[in-house]
Amino acid sequence: MDTIDLLSLRQWVSNYCRKFHSANEKDHQNIVLKESHTYNVAANMLSISGVLLRNRNKVMMAEAIGLLHDIGRFPQYAQYKTFRDSVSVNHGRLGAEVIKNENILSNLPVKEQEIIMDVVRFHNTPTVPGGLDAETIFFLKLVRDADKLDIWRVFAEYYEKDDAERESAAGLGLPDTPEHTDAIVACLAEKRLATVSALRTLNDFRIMQLTWVYDLNFPASFRLAIEQSHIEHIIATLPETDQLAGAVFALRQYLMEKARG
Ligand SMILES: [Fe+2]
Repeated sequence: MDTIDLLSLRQWVSNYCRKFHSANEKDHQNIVLKESHTYNVAANMLSISGVLLRNRNKVMMAEAIGLLHDIGRFPQYAQYKTFRDSVSVNHGRLGAEVIKNENILSNLPVKEQEIIMDVVRFHNTPTVPGGLDAETIFFLKLVRDADKLDIWRVFAEYYEKDDAERESAAGLGLPDTPEHTDAIVACLAEKRLATVSALRTLNDFRIMQLTWVYDLNFPASFRLAIEQSHIEHIIATLPETDQLAGAVFALRQYLMEKARG
């Protein structure tokens, strides 16, 4: 991928997103949420890959993957008015289909096309799937980090808003009550990922998002997480229970250790 390829891809993404802008305020707000997420993930990709890679073309590949990773979100919302894959369509697979059908990567070497398509297709699987080559796995880990970093931003901002201002498709419709579930706090304390199916309250959702720290891959990602401080904003929205305090302390320790590399 060279500079011209990246420039024309940026142009394509901008035009594609615009097609989904809506006169309906709620729909427009949901689309803009994903549009700004797209650009922020691309920026995170640039930031993390700039530390890890010497090759300029590979850094451009990383930015391109950031721009395309959630391209399936736009037709997903247009058709189903939701971002919940479980009740609509797998947005990673749909994204790979969009890239293929729109023929936007045909100027690139076949190997680069395959990497980008696979990374978009698998960016949202619960864990990194087996059977992929080393370079695909590298970019997949990169985008999974860049994506989480920006989801923390999206939700740090979301939790600060009143119910009426919140993007309707962002949450899972969980009640914003003071309780949290023991099994979810246990995941955080045991440094394991929590799963969506176990969530009962919005606090559980917040705690699940904190468990993602234990799935970050690169020291540069941990450093960016600390610098951006969205995690701290999410922690600040949680109740100050003894049960959570220990797990949050361990989380901060882990962040600091990993950031040192
Ligand atoms: Fe995604």
